[in-house]
Amino acid sequence: MSVSRKGVTGGSALRPANPPDLDVWVGRAGEEALSEVDEIAREALPEHWSRAQLGQSLRAGYELRVCRFQGRIVAYLLSQDVVDETHIMQLAVRRAWRRRGMASVLLQCLKRDKRHQRAICLEVRASNEAARALYLRRGFELLARRPGYYQPRAGKLREDALLMRCAL
Ligand SMILES: CC(C)(COP(=O)(O)OP(=O)(O)OC[C@H]1O[C@@H](n2cnc3c(N)ncnc32)[C@H](O)[C@@H]1OP(=O)(O)O)[C@@H](O)C(=O)NCCC(=O)NCCS
Repeated sequence: MSVSRKGVTGGSALRPANPPDLDVWVGRAGEEALSEVDEIAREALPEHWSRAQLGQSLRAGYELRVCRFQGRIVAYLLSQDVVDETHIMQLAVRRAWRRRGMASVLLQCLKRDKRHQRAICLEVRASNEAARALYLRRGFELLARRPGYYQPRAGKLREDALLMRCAL
């Protein structure tokens, strides 16, 4: 799927909000994308998976969606279908590309592709205000709190997870 002011090919009109005329391609990717995904994960996620774990996850049926600008991956979303729900396992955006609608357009792409499922679910660190704001803005609701779900990071205590869900 391609998104730009010139039009959209191969899908419905997903459009990064800011700026609105970026020529960003959004869609599925495979193992060829993993070097860049690994680079983004290392920058963005406290508990990133190794390149090998990412590869195993794709071979086990996880799905990868990416945003590309001029061929370069600027954001990705890794998900897994579990019966009639889709779980977001990872979502990350290159730092320089944040607040430009990349995560929103990936969520929109996932919702469109998974409209046959019952819901999309995820866990997010209670302290991750950017992600919480994103998910609430994009139609997720808070379902539950899981105390001490995340391992402690250097010098910090275990952290609660928030379980969020978006009905499809
Ligand atoms: C969280 C993250 C994925 C958001 O990606 P993004 O592409 O910047 O998000 P979007 O531009 O689509 O933002 C959509 C909305 O979410 C909210 N939002 C996003 N980032 C925010 C922030 N830092 N502070 C407050 N609200 C924020 C806003 O409502 C925003 O809309 P607006 O820009 O019109 O105000 C990105 O910050 C990131 O990669 N963080 C590190 C990895 C991470 O925490 N992943 C989530 C793990 S569950």
